[in-house]
Amino acid sequence: MNYRHAFHAGNFADVVKHLALIAGLEHLRRKATGFAVIDTHAGRGAYNLAGTEAARTGEAADGIRRLTDVNGGPATLATYRELAGGEIYPGSPLIAAKLLRPQDRLVAVEKHPEDVVALRETLQPYAKARVEEGDGYKRLVALVPPPERRGLILVDPPYEAPDEFRFAAHAVTAAYRRFATGLYLIWFPIKSAAEANAFCGEVLASGAGKVLRVDVEKRGIAEGKLAAAGLVVINPPWQFEDEMRAALDIALPRLDCSARFDWLAGKE
Ligand SMILES: C[S@@+](CC[C@H](N)C(=O)[O-])C[C@H]1O[C@@H](n2cnc3c(N)ncnc32)[C@H](O)[C@@H]1O
Repeated sequence: MNYRHAFHAGNFADVVKHLALIAGLEHLRRKATGFAVIDTHAGRGAYNLAGTEAARTGEAADGIRRLTDVNGGPATLATYRELAGGEIYPGSPLIAAKLLRPQDRLVAVEKHPEDVVALRETLQPYAKARVEEGDGYKRLVALVPPPERRGLILVDPPYEAPDEFRFAAHAVTAAYRRFATGLYLIWFPIKSAAEANAFCGEVLASGAGKVLRVDVEKRGIAEGKLAAAGLVVINPPWQFEDEMRAALDIALPRLDCSARFDWLAGKE
């Protein structure tokens, strides 16, 4: 486990992933009944953009820092700018924790012991957020279906191990079979189109009937750095695509990125 998200926090892929997370949470918040968020690979929860890691890669400077002039815009983007406008960049569990209502809850799973300590500290003020140290894939299958029967699941692994695509697809398939109405956001890097397509195909083989794929590509990326990433969204809520398009129309030109939306199953 060498992956350290501090080097990448706030990069173009984080911007898109966190906008999708907010769009999903905003949708769940429209109904009064409570929901659960399960973040299988949570990270530290907060990242100092003035720190050495961010400075070393310059990824946040080339990502979230390019959105500083954005004011207003669609609600998803406005909320993101509000949450991620400062020196401390919020990771997915902190974004989720900040958007929970009293009837909602978050389970954030992280495997790296140092990150678990940092995450516990970050989420300490949030009574409805719980941190679990462990394997996100195993915990995911054990945690679904949530008793609330309403939930958002974020699967955001580091894809360090060669078989991580397979692990992720298997865990999502097992979880989907237990909780078919959940909203799943599954992030993946695109290093090869064939590998990414195969992964999406494996996720589709879970039997999910409504699946949207969002790919984002960044121009002018240095050789050897990640230039494209995607999200598989199972059960995207009504108007999720429109909300994402509206936010990305404003954000992506500033990041030198372009997006592509593909319904892999059951267009809304
Ligand atoms: C891409 S980062 C997560 C970023 C976070 N979701 C966010 O958006 O702010 C991936 C995290 O997964 C952790 N990790 C690696 N293997 C894991 C596993 N099997 N279960 C849970 N966490 C794991 C890493 O330590 C790292 O913090």
